[in-house]
Amino acid sequence: MAALRDYVQWLDRYDDPDSPLSWRLRKVQQWLHDELDARPGPVDVVSVCAGDGRDIIDVLRARDDADRVNVVLLEAHPDVADLARQRARVAGLDRVEVRTCDAALTSSYAGAVPADIVLLVGLLGNMSHEDVSTTIAATPQLCRPGARLIWSRGRDLDDINDRVRREFTAAGFTEQQYAASDQRTRPAIGLMQYDGTTVPLDQNRRLFTFFR
Ligand SMILES: C[S@@+](CC[C@H](N)C(=O)[O-])C[C@H]1O[C@@H](n2cnc3c(N)ncnc32)[C@H](O)[C@@H]1O
Repeated sequence: MAALRDYVQWLDRYDDPDSPLSWRLRKVQQWLHDELDARPGPVDVVSVCAGDGRDIIDVLRARDDADRVNVVLLEAHPDVADLARQRARVAGLDRVEVRTCDAALTSSYAGAVPADIVLLVGLLGNMSHEDVSTTIAATPQLCRPGARLIWSRGRDLDDINDRVRREFTAAGFTEQQYAASDQRTRPAIGLMQYDGTTVPLDQNRRLFTFFR
């Protein structure tokens, strides 16, 4: 894997409640909360390049029905993955599995998909446009029919989000929500529903290469 940003230090950006990241986190958490309210019974959640998992973990910590939610977090950085494990432990959540793995490899998802809620937050801006398309085209393999997927992509370096939205539609998703902010990194986030059929996991593919 190429040398990436220091993603332990990167997490400090969440300390500023006015940062673009904090804006994004609040949106993700609100949508996760609404999704869980809308889905009775067991729910499977998968987060791709999950960081310390504060989005889903902090939502579950505040709910009294967290024990119906199974979470798999895929995170490559061993220290960040440990922070996610620690966060889940402190929150008292024993249905959070943190996989220290390369989420670009489809084999990393074995046994965790198809899921009901899929998080693709903080990755589509860190790969080539071609990899963005490859990743979106593979997302039906991660989703149960009717699943909801949350994605994000900042628009400060370039803005391909209309294309991203069209590609999700072409892959079988219907857009439920899209929100954008003109704060420094021009963050944007979308909520999609998967309306296609089950697609088996093709376990031998690389979807993307993180470049920063
Ligand atoms: C921009 S952060 C986003 C983290 C989290 N989703 C959030 O919104 O806070 C990207 C994360 O992806 C992780 N990462 C980078 N390449 C990865 C890969 N190939 N597989 C799994 N995780 C990866 C990094 O270590 C980092 O924690």
